[in-house]
Amino acid sequence: MKVRLCPSMMCADIFDLKNTIDVFEKYKIECLHIDIMDGVFVPNYTLGTDYCRQLKKKTHIPLDYHLMIDRPEDKIDRFPIEKGDYVSIHYESTNHPQRVLGKLREKGAKPIIALNPATPVSCIEYLLDDIDAVLIMTVNPGYSGQKLIPSTLNKIKETREFLDSKGYENVEIEVDGNVSFENAVKMREMGADMFVAGSSSIFSAFFSLSEGIEKFLNTVK
Ligand code: DX5
Ligand code: ZN
Repeated sequence: MKVRLCPSMMCADIFDLKNTIDVFEKYKIECLHIDIMDGVFVPNYTLGTDYCRQLKKKTHIPLDYHLMIDRPEDKIDRFPIEKGDYVSIHYESTNHPQRVLGKLREKGAKPIIALNPATPVSCIEYLLDDIDAVLIMTVNPGYSGQKLIPSTLNKIKETREFLDSKGYENVEIEVDGNVSFENAVKMREMGADMFVAGSSSIFSAFFSLSEGIEKFLNTVK
């Protein structure tokens, strides 16, 4: 499957959002990764429902909601989820992942199951009909600017092999956390398709956003 670059909006300059979105539209970026944290499932807060509504007024680029929240079943209706948006929920955040993924599909969203670094790949076995992608966290979720957990690289490969062995070749693999240019190349080799690009790559003080995107797309094939 082709490489999809998913910019992490928590790493974008909030004072320059309009120009940032213009750049994403110019490069035909396919989705904007939105980190939603509740201070409970992860020890931090980030973007919220009003931010998503504002963003939707300014761009038609689909959103890629990453819900790092406890009991997402109680909260998904609060988000402006539209047909074509991606929504990931964490396997560890609910007793009923299958039910929540089903509700997301009913909304026309593309459901994704997200796995923390210590969660085994095998837990997705009975969710395969309910997902369009698996999000492999390559750091513990909660903060940008963390260092890759090395064992998660092999986990990407294991996930690809697991999906293929079950006949789910079309289910994509998203990776999130320290997706630097260098790590992204390795992640691609392991089978990743969707790359959450944050402070480790395209959002840098040393080059422009356009330069970052071009470098990413030229480096990760
Ligand atoms: C981690 C977040 C990521 C993060 C990625 O919990 O979900 O989206 O912003 O960016 P860097 O490159 O800083 O790890
Ligand atoms: Zn994320």
